[in-house]
Amino acid sequence: MYLISELANKVNVSRTTLLYYEKIGLIKGQRQDNGYRRYSESDVQRLQLLQQLHRGGLTLKECHACLNGDLDKQTLESRLAQLEQEITEKTQARDLIAGLLGKHSQKQIHESMVEVAPDAHHQWLLQQGFNEKDALRVKWLSKDMTTHEQYMQDFMKVFETLERWGPGGESETLKALSMVSSGADNILEIGSGKGLTTLALANNTSGKITAIDNEPVAVENLAAKLATENIEDRVSAVCASMTALPFSPDSFDLIWAEGCVYIMGFEAALKSWKPLIQKNGYLVVSDLVWLTNSPKPEFTEFWKSEYPNMVNMHTRIEQAQALGYQVCQHFTISPQSWDNYWRPLEQRVNQLQADMPKSQALADILHEIGVYKQHQGDQFGYEFFILKV
Ligand SMILES: C[S@@+](CC[C@H](N)C(=O)[O-])C[C@H]1O[C@@H](n2cnc3c(N)ncnc32)[C@H](O)[C@@H]1O
Repeated sequence: MYLISELANKVNVSRTTLLYYEKIGLIKGQRQDNGYRRYSESDVQRLQLLQQLHRGGLTLKECHACLNGDLDKQTLESRLAQLEQEITEKTQARDLIAGLLGKHSQKQIHESMVEVAPDAHHQWLLQQGFNEKDALRVKWLSKDMTTHEQYMQDFMKVFETLERWGPGGESETLKALSMVSSGADNILEIGSGKGLTTLALANNTSGKITAIDNEPVAVENLAAKLATENIEDRVSAVCASMTALPFSPDSFDLIWAEGCVYIMGFEAALKSWKPLIQKNGYLVVSDLVWLTNSPKPEFTEFWKSEYPNMVNMHTRIEQAQALGYQVCQHFTISPQSWDNYWRPLEQRVNQLQADMPKSQALADILHEIGVYKQHQGDQFGYEFFILKV
């Protein structure tokens, strides 16, 4: 038997609180001859149970009813659902903090931040000292701040000798070009890589072309090609970011962006590039989309982490229309265009593997190639959209 002060110590609750509990009938001390109240082991247990229920979010009244066996099942079930939700949120918060401290897999953390709070994630990376280019590369490529530098070194080692940096082909570029019905006298190509598309556009139009990319290796490579072809006076290669294009409004009658719009996000890019396009001018953009309404789980799982904003082509069409573009035509690139990209890429990775057996970048590229290989062409694809302003 316990005196009230002993009980208070045992269950770590103030004497005043116990007196209140007594008043509302939660515990019941037995008054002794000397006037003091004494509490039993069963009061201790009731209090401990009450504390747990209270921590679980039940009100004092609900705890009381529960201890007396009077609480309805529905109240307990709804509280259980709430608790499960809170636990999930707390677990995510704990993982996030552990990840930011480098104590947890950063890949998962970056992926979940990109999904839940992409802008906050980008700001966070900038605050950690990454410039805009690397913040975007952490988001899309390395997904790990601590190993980012090594990852990008390996990644660029793979791509530096490759001509094609994304799925595509000259026939697809020319097919899309044939759907543009105005002059194309002043073209801006965004994310031009080493310029395979730039050269196709240059050989099939007579206007001025400005090709931009934010990777110096690619820009220098294209500049050298333009010099060899002797077309530098008409076509220029500029190192710039698609997120801050250094051009005045109405500068172009055609903007071309193959396989790179995802970097900024389809809607953000369409919105920010539109002012640069003259009235009746065009934006030709290709983006990875779902080709079926029920993609297989192995593909949804992969692209959920690699391209969380991936949607089907109808959604992209609606988004373009909502942003004031007229969708003139659209088409899906051929399986050959995928092969153009991943076959030389696979060969290159296989060459490098003996020297870089532990490279995460190589492992990720091979994983992605594995997904392309499994794909029969009916699940996802690059869709060209011919949009008019
Ligand atoms: C998937 S590759 C596509 C290259 C080329 N358009 C093609 O289809 O082969 C994406 C390109 O976008 C470039 N890029 C990435 N971030 C960029 C940015 N913020 N501004 C401009 N170019 C960027 C990359 O360097 C790369 O050349």
